[in-house]
Amino acid sequence: MLGTIRVSGAKNAALPAMAAALLTDEPVTLENIPQVRDIETTRKLLAAMGAEVELGYGRAQHRTTICARNLTSPEASYELVKQMRASSLVLGPLLARCGRARVSLPGGCAIGARPIDLHIKGLEQLGAKITQDHGYVEATADRLKGGEISFEKITVTGTEDLLMAATLADGESVLHNCAREPEVADLAELLNKMGALIEGAGTPTIRVKGVGKLHGAKHRIIPDRIEAGTFIIAGALTGGDMNIAGCEPAHLDVLIAKLHEVGVKTAQSADTVRVMGDGPFKASDIITQEYPGFPTDMQAQYMALATQAEGTSVITENIFENRFMHVSELMRMGANIRIEGRRAIVRGKTPLSAAAVLASDLRASASLLLAALVAEGESIIDRVYHIDRGYEHIEEKLKGVGAQIRRIGEILPKKAAAPSRV
Ligand code: EPZ
Repeated sequence: MLGTIRVSGAKNAALPAMAAALLTDEPVTLENIPQVRDIETTRKLLAAMGAEVELGYGRAQHRTTICARNLTSPEASYELVKQMRASSLVLGPLLARCGRARVSLPGGCAIGARPIDLHIKGLEQLGAKITQDHGYVEATADRLKGGEISFEKITVTGTEDLLMAATLADGESVLHNCAREPEVADLAELLNKMGALIEGAGTPTIRVKGVGKLHGAKHRIIPDRIEAGTFIIAGALTGGDMNIAGCEPAHLDVLIAKLHEVGVKTAQSADTVRVMGDGPFKASDIITQEYPGFPTDMQAQYMALATQAEGTSVITENIFENRFMHVSELMRMGANIRIEGRRAIVRGKTPLSAAAVLASDLRASASLLLAALVAEGESIIDRVYHIDRGYEHIEEKLKGVGAQIRRIGEILPKKAAAPSRV
């Protein structure tokens, strides 16, 4: 693949930023919003509460303005939460702004149980009264009170949820063992533009001085480091010379360092990573960790590369208990992988052959797409609605750098989703 591919805004920064708009009755304008399915689900979620959500189009298609002046029902229904568990990000903002919130529990997901107990515990430590009933979390608080919270486990959306809640609490809050993902720091930047008093975002300890009211703001969402990482691996696997433009290379340090170990050649400039050459690749182990460790959201894509590396790569998934759904599909394409608990042992280099495969979750589907780019023949990836949740127009972007990929049939509702040929 040759040429330049542009990275969109980060889904995992856009979702909490849209939830943050619930904290004020003034308009919040967000730029660089990716056109992915989860954004559409969030728009529906906020609109169902009474917020005005204007999604830009044409030249403004990556902009959205949200005004939550009249929140008529501070509720996130099961119908929407089951489509996107990140909907639980509205719990803290609704409680802080309206003094009450009713949010469906997300339930399990393909990659793990993913409870929100740490969100609930944290809000209780800020004085909220929380009950669970009929699959819903019911939370009330006259006004949240600043407090000290230590997360038992590092949680990205848990940190974001409590950060948003603490901005309108009475007094100072100190959050310990926080997630340090760039998306957390980006949210704090937006909140401070809205008048919040936050220090330490991006570090394990965040201090928040509560304020009485927040105001509107404009903010540009950071680039999607996982989309960028996916394209870097696509370039490496297909032996091209590609520029992955509009990304933040500093957010990709650990991934790029690992790829250098494997034998991938890259060069970087302010907002671009160039990937060159096609190996040979040598096997190297990874262990997924919280940021700045190796991201779990790149584990499946890295596994596709490991199938083309000489030797044995041991991939340990430490964040989610069930994030190897892509393994059996990669094996259908001829990969040599054995699972032992949280470890996948990948032996390479194994030539891959095209097959009809099934996507099970967002990053698993990206892994299958990468494998199909180097498999002999034409593969069909089914249930690509998973990939549309987090990758903007991925087939058009890849076609732009020479991939032979096309979507078969229209984007239809889940049940009737048409397969895609690669
Ligand atoms: C965020 O999910 C991302 N989603 C995920 O990206 C990402 O995989 C994950 O962080 C880890 O980096 C968004 O930002 C919208 P966690 P989140 O809370 O916040 C356990 C993608 O592909 N936990 O950091 O839900 C949990 O089960 C998605 O874009 C609790 O036990 O993940 C997991 O094992 C997938 N109780 C671990 O902590 C809680 O209350 C980390 O989860 C919360 C989490």
